[in-house]
Amino acid sequence: MSTALPGDDQMRQEAQARARIDQELRTRFAPEDDALRGANDRAQAEGLPAIQISPIQGKLLQVLAIACGARKILEIGSLAGYSGVWLARALPSDGRLITLEVSAKHAAVVRQTFQNANVADRASVRVGPALELLPALIPEAPFDLIFIDADKGNYPHYLDWAIRLGRPGTIIVADNVIRGGRAFQVPPPDESAAGASAYNNKVLADQRLVSVAIPIDDRGMDGFAISVIR
Ligand code: DHB
Ligand code: MG
Repeated sequence: MSTALPGDDQMRQEAQARARIDQELRTRFAPEDDALRGANDRAQAEGLPAIQISPIQGKLLQVLAIACGARKILEIGSLAGYSGVWLARALPSDGRLITLEVSAKHAAVVRQTFQNANVADRASVRVGPALELLPALIPEAPFDLIFIDADKGNYPHYLDWAIRLGRPGTIIVADNVIRGGRAFQVPPPDESAAGASAYNNKVLADQRLVSVAIPIDDRGMDGFAISVIR
């Protein structure tokens, strides 16, 4: 006679245990303050999609920024500024975060978020399609850390720009490279999966980069690709 739990019960218990672990990690390692909570509240009130990174992802960005001594950070895709606050807080007081946002409405929320978090002295948002804004950043390069979290179809182009605007040692992080596994389907079933798939293939083929991808969203179904320029 088996003492094993029925499959459904066991799966429910494991899901509950995972949720408790996630909560514990979040509470201990990535607590949100009023400014971070406010960014998400404002985003919700303004009708922005709730697709910001998780607190643990935000904390990982801080760890990476500090590990590479980041003084200049570029973010492609601001949403409401939630990730921008995590990144800006990893900068020294004379550091600089530039974040690119296609939507003027979103950018207005970002400015308010940066004011409320007291990082407006070092963090600024530029409005427009990233591929049109990126060439103007050449004189401001090199960036020490570049975070890509915008329209997935352009991820391969954003990677080209990240390498161009980086230097040896620059860390390039891209969100949403797993897409619930759809990024690994051949052919990818939708545009965002196709962008993520092309991005993954490109970082792996590029001899200038050392890369890893990790599941790190709230449900383990999406995650970061992290690359370093050799
Ligand atoms: C989605 C999630 C993201 O983090 C993002 O940048 C874009 C879209 C999504 O789940 O649809
Ligand atoms: Mg994302």
